Order: sequence, then C-alpha cells, then structure tokens
Amino acid sequence: MTDLVRRILVTSALPYANGHIHLGHLVEYIQTDIFVRFQKLRGHQALYLCADDTHGTAIMIRARAEGRGERELIAAMREAHLADFGGFQIDFDHYGSTDSEANRTHCGEIWQSLRNRGLVTTRDVQQLYDTTAGVFLADRFVRGTCPRCQTADQYGDSCEQCGAAYTPADLVDPVSTLSGTRPEVRSAEHLFVTLEQMHGFLNDWTQRSGALDPRIANYLAGHFLGEPLRDWDISRPAPYFGFEIPDAPGHYWYVWFDAPIGYLAATSEWCAAHGDSFDAWWRRDGAAPTAEIHHFIGKDITYFHTLFWPAMLEAAGLALPKRVHVHGFLTVNGQKMSKSRGTFLLARTYLDHLDPGMLRYYYAAKLSGGIDDLDLNLEEFAAKGNADLVGKVVNLASRTARWLEQTGLAAQYPDDGGLFATAAADGAAIAEAYEACDFARAMRTIMQAADRANAYVDAEQPWKLAKAGPESAAKLQEVASVSLNLFRQIAVYLAPVLPVFAVQAGELVGGPITSWNESQRPLTGQPVGTFRSLMRRIEPAQIEALLADSLKLSGTPPTHPTPSSQPGTKGTTSMEQHAAPSDSGEPLAAEPLAPECTIDDFTKIDLRVARVVAAEEVPEAKKLLRLTISLGGDATRTVFAGIKGFHTPESLVGRLVVVVANLAPRQMKFGLSEGMVAAASGAGATGVYLLSPDSGALPGMRLH
Ligand code: 2FM
Ligand code: ZN
Repeated sequence: MTDLVRRILVTSALPYANGHIHLGHLVEYIQTDIFVRFQKLRGHQALYLCADDTHGTAIMIRARAEGRGERELIAAMREAHLADFGGFQIDFDHYGSTDSEANRTHCGEIWQSLRNRGLVTTRDVQQLYDTTAGVFLADRFVRGTCPRCQTADQYGDSCEQCGAAYTPADLVDPVSTLSGTRPEVRSAEHLFVTLEQMHGFLNDWTQRSGALDPRIANYLAGHFLGEPLRDWDISRPAPYFGFEIPDAPGHYWYVWFDAPIGYLAATSEWCAAHGDSFDAWWRRDGAAPTAEIHHFIGKDITYFHTLFWPAMLEAAGLALPKRVHVHGFLTVNGQKMSKSRGTFLLARTYLDHLDPGMLRYYYAAKLSGGIDDLDLNLEEFAAKGNADLVGKVVNLASRTARWLEQTGLAAQYPDDGGLFATAAADGAAIAEAYEACDFARAMRTIMQAADRANAYVDAEQPWKLAKAGPESAAKLQEVASVSLNLFRQIAVYLAPVLPVFAVQAGELVGGPITSWNESQRPLTGQPVGTFRSLMRRIEPAQIEALLADSLKLSGTPPTHPTPSSQPGTKGTTSMEQHAAPSDSGEPLAAEPLAPECTIDDFTKIDLRVARVVAAEEVPEAKKLLRLTISLGGDATRTVFAGIKGFHTPESLVGRLVVVVANLAPRQMKFGLSEGMVAAASGAGATGVYLLSPDSGALPGMRLH
C-alpha cells in the first residue's frame, strides 16, 4: 500500500447545459466517480471537479426557441443535471458553471498568456449567416450536399459518406437547420491561435509524456501532427452567448475555449470554499507537492483535450495532465441509442425504474480502460446484476447474518481455510486494476472471491447447523462470522462502485467503510445488525417499463440530448427538432399528393433495406448508374438508378438504401433492372436524394 498521500485532481467533460443527462453520458461520470472514490478510499486527496458547459450558439438558439433567456435555461438545466448525477451517486467535490466570474477571470488570464507569447492572430472568415434567424451558423447548423462526393444532407464540417472535411461555405445547396432557408456567405473577422508555434511541444507531450494511451498518441501523430497544425479559430462574432473578449469588443470566445478553462474555474471555486490554493494544484512551480491532473473524456473530444488544451496550459505555465483517459461511446443492445426504438435512455427515466447501483456495477464490469465502445445489453445487464450482486454478494449476508444478530461476530476469527487471507492478498491486484481504470478486471477478481466464499457457505451448510441445536451453536457462529467477514471484505472492494451498498453493508456489520485497509483484517466480536434487503433483483417488467417510458418521452421535445454547436459532441443534434420549421411549401405544391390508396395497395409494394455492394457508371446513359445491391445473404440484384451526377459510384458502395424489391424486372437498353432504389426529388428542384434507414437497419429488413 502506498504511504505517500497523492494529490489528484480529476475531471469529467463538462456536459452541455442544453440537454439532459443520458446513459451515454453516465459511462463517463460513473467511471470517473469510481476512480475518484477509489483514490479517496486509498487515503489520497482526490478532488472531483465538473461544471455545466453553458455557452455557444446551441444554447442561445434553444433559449430563443423556448422563449426564455439563456441564463434561465442554464439555471434550470443545472438543477436537472445535479439531480440526475445525485441519483446515480456521482459525488462531485465541486460542480461549477462555465458562465461564472471565476471562469471569466481564468479565460482572461489564459488569453493574456496567449497574447504575450504572440500566439493570437486575426483574419477574415467566410461564414454562413442565417438572415431569418439573425445568426452566424455554427457548422452543425448547416446541412447541404457534400462538395466532394455530392451526397446530400451532410453537416457543414464533414461528410459522413466520404469523410471529406470542409467548411460550411463549401457545401452545395446549404440549408440552415434553424430556419430551413438558404444562408448567405458573410465575411467576419475572427481571432485565431497559431497552434503551429506549439507543434514541437505537442509532439513531445503527446508522444512521450505517458499521458495518452498509445492508440491515441498514434492517432494524433497520424491525423494532426504529421503536417503543420492549422490555426485554431477561437472567436465568434456577435450575437453569441459567451464571454466577450476584453481586448476585442464584439468578439466572443468560442465555447471550446472557455469550456476546458472551466476546469480551472471549478478548482478556484473549490479552493476558495476550502481555504486551499489554486496554485498548489495548477502552477508548475507551486511550493506544495505536485498534483496529478486526470481528465476523463469521450473519444469524440480527443483533439480538444490533447492538442488545444495542453497548448493553452503550456502557454500559461500551468500543469499538464498526467493522464487523459479516453473512453468509447455507449450502444444499447448493440446499436446506437435510438429514440424510435425507445433506447434513448435518459438518466431520469432509468432512475424511475431501476437501481442506480446496478448500472454502476454493469458499467464497471464492462470498462477496461480502453477506447472501445461499451454495449449496454439489457438482457445481460439484468442477468449480470442479478447473478453477481444479488446471487453472490448479497447472498452471503442474507444467508448468514441473521444467526449473528444475537451473538455478534465470533470473538476470534475462525479458521476459514485461508479464504480471508487469499482475498486480502488479492487486494493489491484489485487496487492495481482500479488504478489502471481496468474496472472489469477488478470486478472479475472480486467476484472470484465471492464465488469462493459462497462455496464455503454451501459446504458448511449453516442452515443445518442452525437446526441441529445448541451443540452446533459455536460452529454456526464461526461459519456465519466467516461468511459475514468475507461479505464485508467484498463490500470494501466494491465501495468505489457501490457506495450506497457499502454504507448499508457497514450498517449491517463493522460500521462505515472508510479505508481500503479494512479489507485486510477480519473483524471479531462486533455486533451484527438486522439484515434487510440490500439489493433487489432486476425484473424483466422493470426493463420493459423503462423502454416503454423512453419511447413515450421520445415523442416529447424539447428536452433531449446534446445539440452540437461544435464538433466533438455526444448525442444527436436537437435544434433540428426544436427550431420552428419553416420549410417551403413548394415541393408539395409542385407535385400534389397521389390519389388515396388502401393499406392493401401499400403492402403490395415490398420495400426493403439493401446495401449497395457495387456501383458503376453506364457510359452511354446520361442519368444512370448500375448498382449491385444486396438484400442480405446471397440475394443480390442489379438496379439501374437515375442518380448519376448526384452521387458518384464510389460514394455509394457500402451504404444502405431502400429498394422496391418486388418490382417486375424491366429490360433496359443497358441490361435488366431488377428493382428500384427509392429517392426523393421535387418538380423543378435539381437534387435527387437517396433514402437511408437509421443506422442499425440490416439488408433484407422490410419497411412497414
Ligand atoms: O462534448 C461535450 O459535451 C462538451 N460539453 C465537453 C466539454 S469538456 C471541457 F472541455 F469542458
Ligand atoms: Zn462526401
């Protein structure tokens, strides 16, 4: 065990203040909370800091759509976030806001450091401006056709189809998602940080400091550091909800500038409340022992935390992170969370139906410290929680505690065949796994100890001893004392994951669990409380109710997840759903609805999901591409589609489309066409827009 008390400052990414917390967010907060609780249990001084990320276009627009001020919106969301985090037993030492005076001050200081080092430059930027909404459009508020592969309906910063990166002004036929109108290009002055001047430092820090998983370091080397670093656009022109830059009136710091600085502001606020010194945590030359800074983030915001943020810290002479822990995304039942499937699971909805401890344990059992995505398989979730926590851990106490209610624990720890000592020796390996954020390994080792303990109880059969009468009373007390000691030892190991359970275990026997060392010595002669249910089994009906409620809620805008006014956000955009749509009536007017049909008419048409497996030009035909599509398995078809000029063959290969699969084959000049690919177009409009199913759909699935 380490004697030295480490000072560990830990952060999770600051959640946006315009969306509720969902189970995807919680992968990060639960993970960070476990890490911090573990450090505290080991006797270290750990601080868990977080805040709401409150600035940016998305919040401004949402507040506007809801007819209230931004500060009213962020205050309400703060309450909701804190309630959700509290419900999941996330124990922040301080929860701030990026819209605070402390943050404004820190932003000013960092800014001055950047200025002093000659890292700020100014130039004009062409940005799309929505004349109806009266705002410059952040990348994610513009959609249009990719300038490279011509795929329609792409975001303003990158193409999901071909991966091209561009600026919104490059989009063909851009449309503002706020008003549905065509934005115009306007020029505005922006301030930039010339990151290239920090290239040498960033090379060194990302590749050699040990702060990053080698996969992340390689990704940065391959994607960014191999060429000159682009200037970072750090300002936005008014109107913008954020801090105005003191020496550049009319310009505001971009939300991604003030967000990570929120980590510093949260530290300052905590220090002010606890009589501690900010410098001792963040100054490199502070007199106090050097603190360790740990950031936990999702993989989507890697470059902000591993390039921009360290560059800012370096420029300001502040401490660099000891480790940036990067994790993957959450999928539910193997697929992206989906509102239509009812698997967009909000923290609040979960708490209405299920025990937060069960999710904490499930996540812990699946997190191994890497960047792989984590799948919440709801069947496995129930089975694992029931088998491990109820069936193994709680079972140890429920089977034996009652026989000690009168007598308490045996005065001397009985011979248990080495069980307690073995599990105590496992403590080092469990601690090592926690330290490495390989919680899955820690949970496996703990459950092996639980298995051995249950095997002991099964072999000793205390229920028979209880029936045998007074001559077996001493033996019964011994067996039950062993079982309850092994139970408490496991509760100590699980305390970072299951804090509420650990409190209840302490109430049953041994008092509050305050130190990891309590796993190393058995208790003797102590009173034992009355056993009461510590954790209930998850019933299928609870999961069904969760899904049903989530489905119901998904029909109710506007509270759902993270809109993205900038790259690197989790969740889907929300403004598309919230802004009052003002789509033009032209397409419908140009092509009025067809005569009514019956459901029988409709079912005659067999629409299926299909994957394009090959695509080629038909040189002789002006409009046609020849597509080979797969309906799954060996079922392939050749289809001629009139989409040439709107889609390049290479952009189509691999994508899912919708086809009329039972259309009578038609002999064309160029070959037999065995179906039709569904696409939208409007009379008088130029585009042809292929239909795509939501991700998760499989070739061969029928449309109903
Ligand atoms: O991606 C997000 O949800 C951002 N709100 C995270 C900000 S983390 C930090 F930089 F503040
Ligand atoms: Zn493209």
